[in-house]
Amino acid sequence: MSEDALIPPRVARMVPYKPGKPLEELERELGVTNAIKLASNENPLGPSPKVVEAVANAAKGLNFYPDGAAFALRSALAERHGVPLEEVVLGNGSNELIDLACRTFPDAGDHCVFGKPSFVCYWLGCTAAGVDYTEVPLKENLHWDLEAMAAAVTEKTKLLFLANPNNPTGSYVGRAELEAFLKAVPERVVVVMDEAYYGLADAEDYASGLDLRHTRERLLVFRTFSKTHGIAGLRVGYAVGPAPLVDALNRMRAPFNVNLLGQIGALAALKDEAHVERYIAMNRTERTRVSRALTELGLSVAPSQANFVLVRFERPGVEVYDALLRDGVIVRPMPPPIETSLRITIGTPEQNDRMLAAVAKLKKGD
Ligand SMILES: Cc1ncc(COP(=O)(O)O)c(C=O)c1O
Repeated sequence: MSEDALIPPRVARMVPYKPGKPLEELERELGVTNAIKLASNENPLGPSPKVVEAVANAAKGLNFYPDGAAFALRSALAERHGVPLEEVVLGNGSNELIDLACRTFPDAGDHCVFGKPSFVCYWLGCTAAGVDYTEVPLKENLHWDLEAMAAAVTEKTKLLFLANPNNPTGSYVGRAELEAFLKAVPERVVVVMDEAYYGLADAEDYASGLDLRHTRERLLVFRTFSKTHGIAGLRVGYAVGPAPLVDALNRMRAPFNVNLLGQIGALAALKDEAHVERYIAMNRTERTRVSRALTELGLSVAPSQANFVLVRFERPGVEVYDALLRDGVIVRPMPPPIETSLRITIGTPEQNDRMLAAVAKLKKGD
């Protein structure tokens, strides 16, 4: 049988997710050593030492399956957010929850709405599930066009994703506008507020979906341990929302979707608030410094509420990306329509100095 007959069109349309280039790959391909990776919005301070200890201790029990209901971690999260246990479900990273939402709420022929540019996994999730979708362009200033998003909702729309702050722009939507939007979207639609960068946003009018649950019944808030908690490698995310929606996601998830070390590590990370706060404070200072320094180099930097900045170079981003790679700095090229921009993760002060020096060198050569 030919492959054409075997692979359904929705699978053929997909492209594998392309993550930030790993350090080892750069060394292998270009022989560049001592490189720094500012490409995947990871926490440059690393995990809390308490997480490392808890995970090392838990490794002795790896012969056992983990708790399939993840009772300890879900209970801690339910307590943290002041919600019943039935309103919390875990994912293998919030990525898995995005995928699950696309497979759970829309049926064949149904429709989903999300922004562009935004997190590519909304597109991947919909395409994999065979769900129709509308990508709503952001405004000129890279802010959400909430009016256009509400207008894109059709009778078939079952799901809508809104990342706040957004990746890859770092922009956010403030409380008043968000509240009005959540009320305006028809009740039948499940709205997912993706808050992967929660904690890093410090604008006065930033509001979490968890504080806006009164606006609509069908609201899910996705959070992750990959960013502020510094354990992207353990793959733990969670959703908070009304019990019937959480129950539906729970039915669709694979058994033991969050592994033993992930459950133990996330619980330890949740308890070490000081570690998270240290990172948030460093990111705030460095985000301001890096944004200013890049602006002084004549570049256009989008105001960011996250742990990265989107920087416009006025020439193909891949050219700049390649040049920075050779200097041992890995950043992230962007697809159209923002292919002249690069997304740069905010690192430690030393890493940022190195990145700024590499960009300054390039600008001099312009
Ligand atoms: C907006 C957004 N949502 C979700 C994720 C996925 O995070 P994870 O699967 O590591 O929890 C990311 C990761 O970069 C992101 O930027």
